[in-house]
Amino acid sequence: MNTYDPAWLPDEAWHALRGRRALVLADGGPIADTLGGELHEGSDPDLVLALRHHADTSDAARAAVRRAPADLGPEGYAVTTHGHTTVVLAESEHGLLYGLFDLLRADPPADGGIRLERPHTALRKLDHWDNLSVHPRMGQVERGYAGGSLFWDDGRARNTPEELRRLHDYGRLLASCGINAITVNNVNVHEDAAHLLTDRLDDVVTIADALRPWGIRVHLSVSYAAPVLLGGLPTADPLAPDVRAWWQRTTEAVYEAIDDFGGYTVKADSEGQPGPHSYGRDHAQGANLLAAALAPHGGVVHWRAFVYDHRQDWRDRSTDRARAAYDEFTPLDEQFDANVILQVKHGPIDFQPREPVSPLLAAMPRTRLAIEVQATQEYTGQQQHVCYLAPMWSEVLGFRPYGEDDARTIADLGASGGFAAVANTGNSPFWCGHPLAQANLYAYGRLAWNPALDPDTVLAEWTHLTHPGAPDLVRTTVRSALEGSWRTYEKYTAPLGVGFMVRPHHHYGPDVDGYEYTPWGTYHHADRDGVGVDRTTVTGTGYSGQYPEPWSDLYDSPGTCPDELLLFFHHVPYTHRLHSGRTVIQHIYDTHAEGCAEAEEARRRWQRIAHLLPGERHRETASRYEEQVRCAREWRDQINAYFHRKSGIPDERGAERRE
Ligand code: GCU
Repeated sequence: MNTYDPAWLPDEAWHALRGRRALVLADGGPIADTLGGELHEGSDPDLVLALRHHADTSDAARAAVRRAPADLGPEGYAVTTHGHTTVVLAESEHGLLYGLFDLLRADPPADGGIRLERPHTALRKLDHWDNLSVHPRMGQVERGYAGGSLFWDDGRARNTPEELRRLHDYGRLLASCGINAITVNNVNVHEDAAHLLTDRLDDVVTIADALRPWGIRVHLSVSYAAPVLLGGLPTADPLAPDVRAWWQRTTEAVYEAIDDFGGYTVKADSEGQPGPHSYGRDHAQGANLLAAALAPHGGVVHWRAFVYDHRQDWRDRSTDRARAAYDEFTPLDEQFDANVILQVKHGPIDFQPREPVSPLLAAMPRTRLAIEVQATQEYTGQQQHVCYLAPMWSEVLGFRPYGEDDARTIADLGASGGFAAVANTGNSPFWCGHPLAQANLYAYGRLAWNPALDPDTVLAEWTHLTHPGAPDLVRTTVRSALEGSWRTYEKYTAPLGVGFMVRPHHHYGPDVDGYEYTPWGTYHHADRDGVGVDRTTVTGTGYSGQYPEPWSDLYDSPGTCPDELLLFFHHVPYTHRLHSGRTVIQHIYDTHAEGCAEAEEARRRWQRIAHLLPGERHRETASRYEEQVRCAREWRDQINAYFHRKSGIPDERGAERRE
């Protein structure tokens, strides 16, 4: 494929900016070159991008300095208007870059006005689960639904001129929504990928060079066993002096090749990956080893908290996967070095469409935390279904773990370590497979920049940028397709927060008991009387006790537990009445019928704009809607039939639905 979609940066979006006479007052270097390349410089400029210490040469920039605060921060910027001139003022080229993209999204302020922006957190990372070559079971990108890797082709780094151009365009897309770091390989580090750290470092250099002009730093997933695999040492024990020296030497070589290298992302002692436990050491000892090697160079370790027993006995109801990360990591608070960031999935299990917020995020006050979300739609329809995830992320980020009286949100607790998202991109013509899934990538970047943004506003921004000049009906249809799509998906899949019920291994489509008798720790415990997992403190696994007050109490009782999480925390009879007034069993029947009807209605609406949105974008989406509707019906029918058979309770509205 030589051509690919411009996503939210079509030429039309740039027209107004590129038509202006620009002046760039910067220090030089790759980002300054990018700015120069995006704009047309001209005399008598009406658009000035100025670093503060260069502002003296322009009247408009001097006026901006007088109006702006004394320090805009390392990536912040101010946009001002002075007469007919728009000024972007910043302390660094990064700030100028973000200021330039700001002008695509919004008009400059009126004369004399000022708009200030700075990111909520310094680290806004995208994790690619890309393998170097195609994996026999998983394809090339683990949990990827958008084709092959943008970086790797059949074991080698992509570096033809066309491939590098595409990488350049990818960098522009990422920077335009605020992403500034990228991990270029899968957290499950297969043997060939382990070598990226040493003898295949040149490949990483290629990617770093392509993304540097967009202010994006490259990170690498490394194998904890690297000293053995690559260094020929007999051990990877973090306390062994040889191991320490090996990581130091290796990391020095990385920085000689890539002086702005971001750091290491590590999945250790998790789902079969090697880690410090093999040597009787804990996660802090493991992470600090790498941190010590990175610290002199300004790098960080993202150490993943996704650690649990994946060989659990399903008969044993006392072991609870939801508890695992908290139990493992909270005793280690205070023990991690300053450049270790504990990367925590937003929920305690695994990116289900509905989970409570991970209690670990509120239990590590002395550790830097990053919040990990999944833009790739592993459990949310695999980019065959429309599922706009920003409303879910926004709920998580705005959650107040200490109750309404304490203003701290999850986003605040994660500010020191930032955000990570598993990427939903690949080399498909639409970057994300499904054209509408681009909204998730865009929204992730925007929420990482400012977690307080309203997901609907972000959606309006994305829709507007992606469809410049389109008729109103196109924009309203696109927005309505995405707006409530997460709740629609939630309705026709596993009910009331119980999770999973997906087909084992690939995780697409329904299989209610698919994981029920497996070692993975993801159960629903449905029987003839009721359904749900008892995670209470009195009769259950005690998981609800991992939350601070008031949540531990609220979750502990079915009377106060929010409906949407009821079955995550409680095993209840099918006749249990929800706050909504419906019984659990009737809720299951109703929501599955509703969710499926909503998917059908979305498909109808999409068909109505065929003549207004010609071309692949419409066709590709239309064909995915066919699959979504097919699959939603299957979900509805399997779930409803399953619970009817288990409970023996008929659907009150069954006759009406059959008409
Ligand atoms: C999920 C996913 C795996 C992935 C893992 C992780 O379990 O299915 O493919 O490796 O998460 O986050 O490490």
